[in-house]
Amino acid sequence: MGVVAFDAIVAGAGIIGGSIAWRLAQAGLRVLLLDAGRMGEEASWAGAGMLAPSGEFEVPSLLASFAIQSLRAYPRFVAELESETGLPIDYRRLGAIEVAGSEAEWRALQARAESLAGLGIPACPMSREDLLRELPHLNCAAGGAFFYPEDALVDPRHIMRALRSACLARHVEIREGVGVMAIRPTSRGVEVITKDSILAARSAVLAAGAWSSSIEVKGQWLPRTFPIRGHLMGFQLEPGSLGPILRRDHTYILQRSNGFTIAGTSSEECGFDRVLSPAILCDIQARASKLLPLLAGCEPCEHWLGFRPGVEGKGPIVEGLEGTPLWLAYGHYRNGILLAPATAERVARGITANWGTDSTGRTGKL
Ligand code: GLY
Repeated sequence: MGVVAFDAIVAGAGIIGGSIAWRLAQAGLRVLLLDAGRMGEEASWAGAGMLAPSGEFEVPSLLASFAIQSLRAYPRFVAELESETGLPIDYRRLGAIEVAGSEAEWRALQARAESLAGLGIPACPMSREDLLRELPHLNCAAGGAFFYPEDALVDPRHIMRALRSACLARHVEIREGVGVMAIRPTSRGVEVITKDSILAARSAVLAAGAWSSSIEVKGQWLPRTFPIRGHLMGFQLEPGSLGPILRRDHTYILQRSNGFTIAGTSSEECGFDRVLSPAILCDIQARASKLLPLLAGCEPCEHWLGFRPGVEGKGPIVEGLEGTPLWLAYGHYRNGILLAPATAERVARGITANWGTDSTGRTGKL
């Protein structure tokens, strides 16, 4: 094994890998952050930035608690990044309104609100009249709606810009266009194998999102990752013309501070196909227009897609690999933006817990 030049090598520079690298550098570690493409230009760039456990979880689970912990960590995560970099991040706790389009949907929302109360997520019922007062043009409110006051939104592109700057300021070495082919745990740490080199470190983190399975971990079988594609579209509207996030079923609309309004989404398992589907975009615009009718006559100014990191079995995987100084942090599916602060804290704490003796810190699985 060559000279151990790094305390930690992080494979994958999305919001998960970038946040972990930053936290490790804050703890004083020498960190190398590798990405096969460019930092933050895949799922983290594509994500709408809804921070909404109310729409993702219903029954108590370790993952639901982890998500709520991460949501509550967001204000400090954002404030720290802003103060370390001087870069603004569009983060706001505006809440979300989820609309029921039929009596059956309304009953389902009511049942969910009861379960959410058990998770500590407040949900306030809105009658059809309240809703129409708030959103007079809504044309799909056959039932009522719920308001979730703790839901928030963030611009993930702002987070990634700040993470790059914060990492560089703390001497994280960022190498882009460097795909990791394999990671080999050794008696003294790990070797990270790229096309051109074998890099030695005391510890490593596998955080390559949907691409994580393309990195072989020698001597280990790991659950397979795969992309779950989602389309999004953006409209330039008057800033402040939409308050809370609007949701119905798999449709959502949210607005950035500058008026850029995002409508989503879709879900396809078709590999890493980057060709936008006009039919899917048309369907999203039709669904979103039922929530916000002015979108029907609006020309979108941007369309894009991203690859949510799916994983076989139950994701995400945020754990140390038994008997090795390798940590796994992937498979965050629809919740990578939401789960980044808690994931980074957990992995950084795990790696640094036993620093000075060895680096095989452990925690239970999610
Ligand atoms: N987080 C929302 C989505 O994946 O579409």
